[in-house]
Amino acid sequence: MSNIEQTLSIIKPDAVERNLQDKIKSEFINNDFEIVEEKKIHISKDEAEIFYKVHESKPFYKDLCEYLSSGPIVVMRLQKDNAVLENRKLMGATNPKDADDGTLRKKYGISIDKNSVHGSDSVENAKIELDFFFKD
Ligand code: CMP
Repeated sequence: MSNIEQTLSIIKPDAVERNLQDKIKSEFINNDFEIVEEKKIHISKDEAEIFYKVHESKPFYKDLCEYLSSGPIVVMRLQKDNAVLENRKLMGATNPKDADDGTLRKKYGISIDKNSVHGSDSVENAKIELDFFFKD
């Protein structure tokens, strides 16, 4: 039975800065994701703080928000069967050092902060994160 889902993907500042967005978008397309919507934006630190609010209590929160707002990002609405889990598999572990070969973070990530991509971690959070960037 099919289980079509949507999830949010962000190509983070480190990857956009290195002009990797087309390469990363091809990886999604080659793995049967449909890019339903996308936009290149530069968010403020206040917006990043709202987006990453779940991490508010973490020691890395301030740096994380500064980083996400440090340059342009590409946000995408991805669709596929089991998109949330499939995207997490394609991205690999949060820390590129621990990510499996062939995953996006292994191929393109620089460090745990500059790990090139973000993806929603659950169907529930995907809805919240997609609304954050795409609700008009
Ligand atoms: P992301 O999937 O965007 O979600 C939160 C981000 O926090 C994560 O990717 C990492 O880039 C960043 N981060 C920095 N330090 C840590 C850490 N110790 N544990 C988890 N995430 C971290």
